[in-house]
Amino acid sequence: MLQINPDIQAYARDHTTPEPELMQELIEVSDQNLEYIDMLSGRVVGRLLNMLVKMTGSRRILEIGMFTGYSALMMAEALPDDGKLITCDLNEKYASIARSFFERSQHGHKIEVRMGEALETLKTLEGPFDFIFVDADKGNYPNYYRETLPMLKRGGVMVIDNVFLAENVLAPNDEKAEAVDQLNTLIAEDDSVEQVMLTERDGLTIARKL
Ligand SMILES: C[S@@+](CC[C@H](N)C(=O)[O-])C[C@H]1O[C@@H](n2cnc3c(N)ncnc32)[C@H](O)[C@@H]1O
Repeated sequence: MLQINPDIQAYARDHTTPEPELMQELIEVSDQNLEYIDMLSGRVVGRLLNMLVKMTGSRRILEIGMFTGYSALMMAEALPDDGKLITCDLNEKYASIARSFFERSQHGHKIEVRMGEALETLKTLEGPFDFIFVDADKGNYPNYYRETLPMLKRGGVMVIDNVFLAENVLAPNDEKAEAVDQLNTLIAEDDSVEQVMLTERDGLTIARKL
């Protein structure tokens, strides 16, 4: 993670609209049952996703990397009642926690979980999606971008998390860092999108398809 002053991070979090109570419980249950929950995007990113979904009027969302369902539920909350979010993961332990919260949420019916290697799942999906959130295995980031951009509608938004990979993109020295750096270059050189890279947490890119 980036070494941003933890006090200012806490300050930003404290001045961001809190999650609904159920989501706070999701964080607690994830924390109690799993060794690490730093994969969970957290309040600031979650609220940003929620707002972007609302502001773009998105109705159909694709998420790659569900974990225990935090970001999926934050986005689903912003969808209209007949909206749909398809989320991909391959870890049953994470998915069982996610499903238990989807069942309890009034927005859970909008979420469809697809288990398996995300690249395989993507082959079974058809666009257009209004909104795509990429937050899974970093080594596949360029593949996820190439495979999902054609499924994003014009004017649609793709958000990609961890685009700094703990600053390793500055001097990539392993496959993951090289893949994330490659994705960042792909996006920067792609005339079919406009994008902003934010320094929130581990880096977040918001790309809009032209
Ligand atoms: C960073 S976490 C997702 C966090 C979630 N978006 C959130 O904000 O709470 C990444 C997830 O991607 C999943 N994942 C990793 N490799 C995958 C793959 N090849 N296909 C599908 N899911 C994968 C992991 O099991 C993990 O749950």
